[in-house]
Amino acid sequence: MKRNIAIFASGNGSNAENIAEYFRQSPADADAGVALIVCNKPDAYVISRAERLGIPCRVLPKAQINDPEVILPLLDSYGIDIIALAGYLLLIPEFMVRRYEGRMVNIHPSLLPKYGGKGMHGARIHQAVIDNGDTETGITVHLVNERCDEGSIIFQHSIPVTSDDTAETVETRIHALEKEYFPRVIHKLVLGLKDGEQ
Ligand code: GRF
Repeated sequence: MKRNIAIFASGNGSNAENIAEYFRQSPADADAGVALIVCNKPDAYVISRAERLGIPCRVLPKAQINDPEVILPLLDSYGIDIIALAGYLLLIPEFMVRRYEGRMVNIHPSLLPKYGGKGMHGARIHQAVIDNGDTETGITVHLVNERCDEGSIIFQHSIPVTSDDTAETVETRIHALEKEYFPRVIHKLVLGLKDGEQ
């Protein structure tokens, strides 16, 4: 059974595009595809990416994304089985967490629980890694709950940080890791869904 993925994004959308491309290639294309992108920012670059990819993109203000009467019928109309948050900056309300329990993941560019929580994103995280003299950093994929960056961790990959590194060099390597691993983790989740589980 081919599964449908929705990606929630608020900004650039390079992960969204990368996940969509991954699931357009064999053998992943037989298992799932990105059916919908949901965005809460009308000026986010992910919207142009979705257009280029030919993937439906719905841009909704926070109040509508967090309204069960709006978002659940939308997701159902695309038969969404799995949700991936990729640079999505809003908290997920409890009704969504329950509905997609075990089927909603987020990627975070640090080794959680380090450098997680409100306001911890992008360059700020990598700068903190450098400022604190950390010798490793990495990426985390976790299940989503109502709290920011706190759901169960399902995947981490670490890389060394050397004294030559800057926030920029770390960021570049972290982005490469995200591109390499996030689609594969989603794929594994897809393969783990039981028949009949939507
Ligand atoms: C990524 O670094 C991701 O880990 C974090 O937000 C960033 C999104 O980048 N959650 P993009 O919008 O996918 O380019």
